[in-house]
Amino acid sequence: MKNIVVLVSGGGTNLQALIDAQKRGDIRGGRISCVISSKADAYALTRAKNNDIPTRVIPRKDYADNASYSKALHEALYEEYADLIVLAGFMTILDKSIIQAYKNQIINVHPSLIPSFCGDGFYGLHVHEKALEKGVKLTGATVHFVNEICDGGPIILQKAVEVQNNDTPEILQKRVMEQAEWKILPEAVSLFCEERLTVKDNKAYIDYKGE
Ligand code: GAR
Repeated sequence: MKNIVVLVSGGGTNLQALIDAQKRGDIRGGRISCVISSKADAYALTRAKNNDIPTRVIPRKDYADNASYSKALHEALYEEYADLIVLAGFMTILDKSIIQAYKNQIINVHPSLIPSFCGDGFYGLHVHEKALEKGVKLTGATVHFVNEICDGGPIILQKAVEVQNNDTPEILQKRVMEQAEWKILPEAVSLFCEERLTVKDNKAYIDYKGE
């Protein structure tokens, strides 16, 4: 069984999707062993506690820079025997030392179809504001491995979602979560835990054998 450590900063609806998938038996070969939050008041911590999942708080504001924060995080991940790290609404950019130590073992969910609306400054609601500003008719979500380039790692799964005429960023965010993020994140986590993902030339491939 692989140890899945989920990193959060906010509401934790993606964490909830992982917990629900685990309860249904849809995460094969792994279990959520710990939730680490960068904020003490993140509601995601309550979701973990309600489901008897151990939690840790490592407040980002207690550290001067990303390098010192990543060092503290790295120690915690080591102590937790993390096999897979899931960034589920985690709002801190990781230092390259941690990314290199856990190469192709860190998964992020991003609320757009990468390479659209991604990179520095594109997070949370801002992503949907930009999609509406541009007037795209399709958006969606992407689950990818994390590398040194912000939102630039190998893409594991993507799912498209339609934009509607009267959408606000909040309405679009909710639709993208419901129709895409909460589905593809648990699916990608299970594929990783079942060892069905490989990476070559910055591209991820799924092993469909046996399906
Ligand atoms: C989600 O929409 C996630 O894709 C996004 O933040 C939200 C967190 O919601 N992440 C990013 O923008 C990362 N670049 P949640 O706390 O309810 O899961």
